[in-house]
Amino acid sequence: MKTAVVTGASSGIGKEICRMLNGHGIRVYGIGRTFCEDQAAQTPLFIPIICDLSDTAALTGLIRRILSETPVDILINNAGTAYYGPHEELNPQKIHEMVAVNLEAPLILTQLLLRSLKAQQGAVINISSVTAKHSGNTHGCAYGATKAGLSSFTASLFEEVRKYGVRVVAIHPDMTRTGLYRNADFCCAEDQECALSPKTVARAVETALFADSGCVITDITLQPQKRKILRKAKEK
Ligand SMILES: NC(=O)c1ccc[n+]([C@@H]2O[C@H](COP(=O)([O-])OP(=O)(O)OC[C@H]3O[C@@H](n4cnc5c(N)ncnc54)[C@H](OP(=O)(O)O)[C@@H]3O)[C@@H](O)[C@H]2O)c1
Repeated sequence: MKTAVVTGASSGIGKEICRMLNGHGIRVYGIGRTFCEDQAAQTPLFIPIICDLSDTAALTGLIRRILSETPVDILINNAGTAYYGPHEELNPQKIHEMVAVNLEAPLILTQLLLRSLKAQQGAVINISSVTAKHSGNTHGCAYGATKAGLSSFTASLFEEVRKYGVRVVAIHPDMTRTGLYRNADFCCAEDQECALSPKTVARAVETALFADSGCVITDITLQPQKRKILRKAKEK
């Protein structure tokens, strides 16, 4: 049986990726901080693990424990956090959290798992963002920078490990209907065609993961058919 480690498994895109992997008979160690009870009850192939990704010592211990139980075939760095607004109005804690979760944790997890992934001829799939490809992320400078870093890491890692048979993929979704915009002053427009569904992003991961042998889909960019966002009403 194949084994995957998926971060951000408790909601949104990550939850759909776990469902997709379990559907293929892949056992998933899903990392998050808050799981609802029914998620673990759905299948014994899903093992929820509570861990704050910004706690490097806890993360390292956790991965060592998993590797002592089983080799790991697939790593999906999906967890992310986003704060928007003029850069001057962010604070150091928010900046630190975005760098730790969006960039540092994927680098550390990849390092800890790479020997197993090479032995298994496995895959690393990083959920980046279309913002990684934009040079002007007004009011999202720091978030965009973390995602650009993740995409840069993904491309370099592919060059390093392609000869070992490891697939390395960056997925670049645009607006997707999840809770990611909880801290933003905007959200997805209601029109279905103005935002992607988490299931669509999970399908892109599936496509990359099950690509023909000898072919690596290194980059998938997903955009909704129409461009529109909603400004949230200001709280009084
Ligand atoms: N939604 C979009 O429009 C969009 C577009 C492009 C890219 N993305 C990327 O897609 C990925 C998934 O985000 P989403 O849209 O599905 O948002 P989401 O529903 O808010 O999911 C974020 C996930 O990350 C986990 N997470 C955040 N901070 C964590 C921490 N410190 N420790 C452990 N887990 C943590 C959350 O777990 P807990 O809640 O349990 O802590 C949650 O499972 C992110 O990398 C995001 O940047 C999203």
